[in-house]
Amino acid sequence: MHDLTRRLEFSAAHRLHSSAFTAEENRTLYGVCNNPHGHGHNYVLDVTLRGEADPVTGMVMDLNRLAVLLDEVLFSVVDHKHLDHDVPWLKGQVSTAENVVAAMWGQLAEPLGPLLYRMRLYESAANFVDYYGPGREA
Ligand code: NI
Repeated sequence: MHDLTRRLEFSAAHRLHSSAFTAEENRTLYGVCNNPHGHGHNYVLDVTLRGEADPVTGMVMDLNRLAVLLDEVLFSVVDHKHLDHDVPWLKGQVSTAENVVAAMWGQLAEPLGPLLYRMRLYESAANFVDYYGPGREA
C-alpha cells in the first residue's frame, strides 16, 4: 500500500465570524482572526491518496492528472480570493481550517473516490488540521 501526496499552495483571505454569536462574543472567541476586514494566509494543502501502485503504470494515480484536478477544482477557486465571499462551497460556514478542509474534501470526494485518504491543511507553519473524510478515522 502506498500513500501518495500532492501539495498545493494558495493564498487567501478570510475572517472568523459566526452568526451564532454577538459581535463582542465573536471578538472574544476569535480574537485578531475576527478583524472586520479579514486577514490573509499562505495556505498549504497536502492531498494524500492511499492505494496500490498499478502493476502496469507503477503509479497509484497519474500525478499530472491529480495536479490538473486540484488546479481546476480547488486552486482556481480559492487562490487570491476571500474564502467567505468568493467561494460558493464555503458560503454560510465559519472559515476555520477545520471547515475549509472538510469543504475541500467534499469537492474532491467524487473525482477521487476511495483513493482519497487524507487532507492536511496548513493555515500557518505552526497550525494544521488533518481530515480523513466525514465520520472517518485515520
Ligand atoms: Ni486566519
